[in-house]
Amino acid sequence: MTRLFRTAIVGTGGIAQAHARSMSTLKDRAQVVAAVDIDPARLAEFCDKWDIANRYSSLTELLAAEELDVVHLCTPPGFHKGQAIEALRSNVNVLSEKPPALTLADMDEIAEAEAASAACFATVFQHRFGSGAENLKRLMGEDGLGRPLAAICNTLWYRPDSYFDLPWRGQWLVEGGGPTMGHGIHQFDLLLSILGNWTEVTAVAARQALPTNTEDFSAAIVSFENGTVATIINSLLAPKETSYLRFDFSGATVELEHLYGYSDDSWALTPAPGHEDLERRWKEGLTGRASGHSSQFAAIFDALASGGVPPVTSTESRMTMELIAAIYASAFTRKPVSRGQIDTTSPFYGAMDGNAAPWSDVKASH
Ligand SMILES: NC(=O)c1ccc[n+]([C@@H]2O[C@H](COP(=O)([O-])OP(=O)(O)OC[C@H]3O[C@@H](n4cnc5c(N)ncnc54)[C@H](O)[C@@H]3O)[C@@H](O)[C@H]2O)c1
Repeated sequence: MTRLFRTAIVGTGGIAQAHARSMSTLKDRAQVVAAVDIDPARLAEFCDKWDIANRYSSLTELLAAEELDVVHLCTPPGFHKGQAIEALRSNVNVLSEKPPALTLADMDEIAEAEAASAACFATVFQHRFGSGAENLKRLMGEDGLGRPLAAICNTLWYRPDSYFDLPWRGQWLVEGGGPTMGHGIHQFDLLLSILGNWTEVTAVAARQALPTNTEDFSAAIVSFENGTVATIINSLLAPKETSYLRFDFSGATVELEHLYGYSDDSWALTPAPGHEDLERRWKEGLTGRASGHSSQFAAIFDALASGGVPPVTSTESRMTMELIAAIYASAFTRKPVSRGQIDTTSPFYGAMDGNAAPWSDVKASH
């Protein structure tokens, strides 16, 4: 009989509901045995709703009291690094909500703690795990799609001013950035998982309308080792919302359009002349798995059961975080930035904005 993994949810606010709901669909693989929050009323309501027995007011208390395989970090972004390191020191695997940390320096501290631990650090990037993304990666490994030439990655979302009422939102120090760090990250993490290593970025960022001290819009042109050139837009200014990825290969265009989660129907393949068989091969490869937390959690439990490294690994998520740092560095220095250029001497290593946002001396107000 396979062992039931024991997990705990830390932070019982908005996204913790998706974690609990997804875990309830995986009862044959794992059980949420405990939860933590600094807000006792929220903790009680959450645990009552999801039938979670053990309740704690801090991660430290949780780790002292429970034998765990995984902690889900569903706290605001500024807590992820410290809580991840604390759990790794107790040899408990960490599944952190995005963004995994606020800076590249923090990512490297997590990787150091992971290297010294028997446990692993993984980040929630749930859009890597639907069958459409897996189908695209499979087809790219076969003949037919041809060379990837150009790509588009648009996160055109809308957030009213009231969205920023939560104290951790829209501030460099506690969220690490605006829609580039907090929202577009989902879409371009998927883009990177498909296209591989990026090499250079040129970007602009603007603070147009929202009551934040971060950007509310960014646009980047990104080159990849495999020769693809992509444009990436991250916006919270779009009343007509969409998440849109498009890959133009020499043999076909592959598109994904959705908002916060996709199914097989969200994908479309349009073959180039002479490549019509790709339509049939695309459809045959789809297995009906939607993107989402439960698809990623299943992959994590598969990895843990087989002694593998749970996805998305700290190395993979650092590549995504480095692109974010490079978008800000390019935007605020008005120069192209290469992968590897943001080293420990760069102001963008220890702070995503490099303390260089042109509007940073303007207090956010509306
Ligand atoms: N993957 C996704 O699609 C997705 C969607 C939304 C949010 N998120 C991410 O999830 C994280 C949480 O976002 P949210 O919207 O749920 O936030 P939230 O503010 O609704 O919830 C955070 C919870 O953490 C608790 N908390 C704060 N400090 C704590 C501490 N030290 N120990 C324990 N609990 C603590 C708060 O009391 C609150 O209940 C963020 O990093 C966010 O970016 C991911």
